Amino acid sequence: MLKVEEQQPVQFSAALIEKAEEIVKRYPEGKQKSALLPILHEVQAELGWLSPNAMDKIAEFLSIEPIEVYEVASFYSMYFLKPQGKYVLEVCRTGPCCLVGAEKLMDHLEKSLGVKENEVTSDGLFSWRGVECLAACGYGPVLQIGPEYTFYENLNEQKVDDLIQDLRKK
Ligand code: FES
Repeated sequence: MLKVEEQQPVQFSAALIEKAEEIVKRYPEGKQKSALLPILHEVQAELGWLSPNAMDKIAEFLSIEPIEVYEVASFYSMYFLKPQGKYVLEVCRTGPCCLVGAEKLMDHLEKSLGVKENEVTSDGLFSWRGVECLAACGYGPVLQIGPEYTFYENLNEQKVDDLIQDLRKK
């Protein structure tokens, strides 16, 4: 059963549609499905996440089946299938980062933000989650903050608290 926010009708802006049409033109005629990944990014950037209705609308736009959109969107971790906070703190939870404290950092985020992984704080500002290797294994623990994907290395609890404070002030 879908939650209310997951059933909201979706409207793409004129700018988004224009951008999507431009992306489709990069590919040979009949190969419009190739535009799916960049269009998913654009839609997520505008709406904050990819609701079922948004994915259905993308399928309609590309003249493909909705399942083809769901398969791709659910495969890649950079696509959000649930509403997220304005800032998404993604902590690397792969082995080398765990050896230097990534799990402690995720416990700390849960306590300091007061929400579990993939939940959104009541002010709508933050969510956090563990992700696989962020390719900075020698500099852990590391995290990136979406939607711009700013990257932070050699973290500890105090540095993460400072980051959160800075984001709150924005
Ligand atoms: S293991 Fe954390 S960045 Fe590679």
